[in-house]
Amino acid sequence: CNFLVEKSRGEIIDTLVEGLQRLEYRGYDSTGIAIDGDREDETSIYKQIGKVSALKKEIEAHKPNRDAHFVTHCGIAHTRWATHGEPKQVNCHPHRSDPTGQFVVVHNGIITNFRDLRQLLSNKGYKFESDTDTECIAKLFKHIYDTNMKNGHDPDFHELTMQVLQELEGSYGLLCKSTHYPNEIIATRKGSPLLIGVKSEKKLKVDFVDVEFPDSEQLPDVPVNNECNLLNEAERSLLPIAGNESTLRRSQSRAFLSEDGSPSPIEFFLSSDAASIVKHTKKVLFLEDDDIAHIYDGELHIHRSTKKLTESATRSIQTLEMELAQIMKGPYKHFMQKEIYEQPESTFNTMRGRIDFEHNQVNLGGLKSRLPAIRKARRLIMIACGTSYHSCLATRSIFEELTEIPVSVELASDFLDRKCPIFRDDVCIFVSQSGETADTMLSLNYCLERGSLTLGIVNSVGSSISRSTHCGVHINAGPEIGVASTKAYTSQYIALVMVALSLSDDRLSKVERRNEIIQGLKLIPGQIKAVLNLEPRVKDLCAKELKNQKSLLLLGRGYQFATALEGALKIKEISYMHSEGVLAGELKHGVLALVDENLPIIAFGTRDSLFPKVLSSIEQVTARKGRPIVICNENDEVWQSKVKTHNLVTLEVPHTVDCLQGLLNVIPLQLISYWLAVNNGIDVDFPRNLAKSVTVE
Ligand code: G6P
Repeated sequence: CNFLVEKSRGEIIDTLVEGLQRLEYRGYDSTGIAIDGDREDETSIYKQIGKVSALKKEIEAHKPNRDAHFVTHCGIAHTRWATHGEPKQVNCHPHRSDPTGQFVVVHNGIITNFRDLRQLLSNKGYKFESDTDTECIAKLFKHIYDTNMKNGHDPDFHELTMQVLQELEGSYGLLCKSTHYPNEIIATRKGSPLLIGVKSEKKLKVDFVDVEFPDSEQLPDVPVNNECNLLNEAERSLLPIAGNESTLRRSQSRAFLSEDGSPSPIEFFLSSDAASIVKHTKKVLFLEDDDIAHIYDGELHIHRSTKKLTESATRSIQTLEMELAQIMKGPYKHFMQKEIYEQPESTFNTMRGRIDFEHNQVNLGGLKSRLPAIRKARRLIMIACGTSYHSCLATRSIFEELTEIPVSVELASDFLDRKCPIFRDDVCIFVSQSGETADTMLSLNYCLERGSLTLGIVNSVGSSISRSTHCGVHINAGPEIGVASTKAYTSQYIALVMVALSLSDDRLSKVERRNEIIQGLKLIPGQIKAVLNLEPRVKDLCAKELKNQKSLLLLGRGYQFATALEGALKIKEISYMHSEGVLAGELKHGVLALVDENLPIIAFGTRDSLFPKVLSSIEQVTARKGRPIVICNENDEVWQSKVKTHNLVTLEVPHTVDCLQGLLNVIPLQLISYWLAVNNGIDVDFPRNLAKSVTVE
């Protein structure tokens, strides 16, 4: 959305398309944009399935007049991951209210009552073009607009939006543009992230100042006037959202006017992901649930769609620290490969400034004041999805050992399904790379409602989970683009170990163990670097032993069970080969029936207290003609002799403390999944049917 920045249609298209390209890493299946047409009452919509490059071709094919100039313009764009309706062109966003595009919307999330709405609107004569839940929003906008007009009321765009939202159930991050409100845009969210980047030649003040907030009884009945505008005089960075007399009065000035009275250029960039706007501006503000942002005449106004108050009466403008270079591929073929190779650095960054290796001290600033409360917890509950869940499993045991507090690990969706009992003296730990995963976020809200103390282990700074938890640790791994999580896993793992170390630093009986772990952590980045040297061996294995295999078992025990699960997940999501992580202790309770000379098996045979048991499980496999690939420690004589007698294949990794060994053992699995996928011609960064940020339940 531009204000007083003259742009050609070509530039507008390029800005939108490039923004979409920056989101491609999230693994979506279709794309689209909507911009102003040649006639004032027309919107041009271009959409295509597949990648953004396909959309570009689609736009070119329609030959839009790229030279037309605009001083103010609002365009919207979307990449979609199908929830309702298969990936086909009509299902791509933006969706429109009617063939001329009076109202056009893009939407993340799910409208749960869309079937009822669709029925209702169909009965009123609306013709639906797609199978999506989103289309009913565009049609609802038109229907409610027409009804208002019929009754002689010409609603403001945000007022209309408020009426529309009253009819919607479910979750949304929503943008709407309309020919009835030229050059205006609406952005609103509930359960899906949305941020607004502000690019202005004027220096934006970024202090956070609180505005007096009226209590709910004093709020007007119809909360349509809770507005103030951005960039007004001294409080340029503030968005007071709950209106009271003084705030309203203060907002009368036209803030975008420069000193000599001539308007200064300002542009707004709205997105669900900072990666798509960081090229243009680093000044962003995050919308909260039930916020309705209304941009027109170069001003941003925030309204509340409900009377429900949020903690703060302002939305402060923050400065993103993300550099564009950080999210580029560099010399690597794929983001995933880059991220695998970044791990010596990313694991170091997770520990940087937090561990004093000389004095064996861990200092986590985001947790410090809460440590006494966490130590009093009657149980610790870790909640996450996917790879993040595996990092919880990998560290559960060291948490229990060091803190002596019972720890349970929950898959967020199952946790919600079970309506798990949660109490005030529980401490709930939410682990998420993106900080936006819907199930994890919903679990967090569930725990907050029940009064438990919440802790976030998150990579994305400013994400919903990092902002909503009471305290936490950013894992500082840097942006992760590859859909298959790699460096976030090792950094989450280390961050969780650091939390366990912090929680136990008042226990004399644990000093020795803690020191051993801290010294072990010091060596991890260098040891990961050494493991990465296995790549030529891994490539060879993937081209020979593992070539054209249909299925793969990964066998682990104790600390290595989580590594087996994580390795299996990596292999299935990237190479599409069926793979299964098996607890070695369960082998004889079923899985052994699968073992023969053909089924490939990867086993974890690194040294820890369970080594004899692991050895016996692997012997059960070799006794049935299985020929496992064993991940073991360097120069381990037991395996060296077995290589000769049983014709085994080994991948050797350095030895570390038992609870950290998974950080090294997982690396060859990441490489195996990567090379299996590359050998099968799969686009590693865009595995089919998967998304990086799963912001739907
Ligand atoms: C998706 C991603 C996984 C990730 C999981 C949890 O499935 O493809 O890589 O582990 O979501 O995401 P989170 O951002 O919460 O860690």
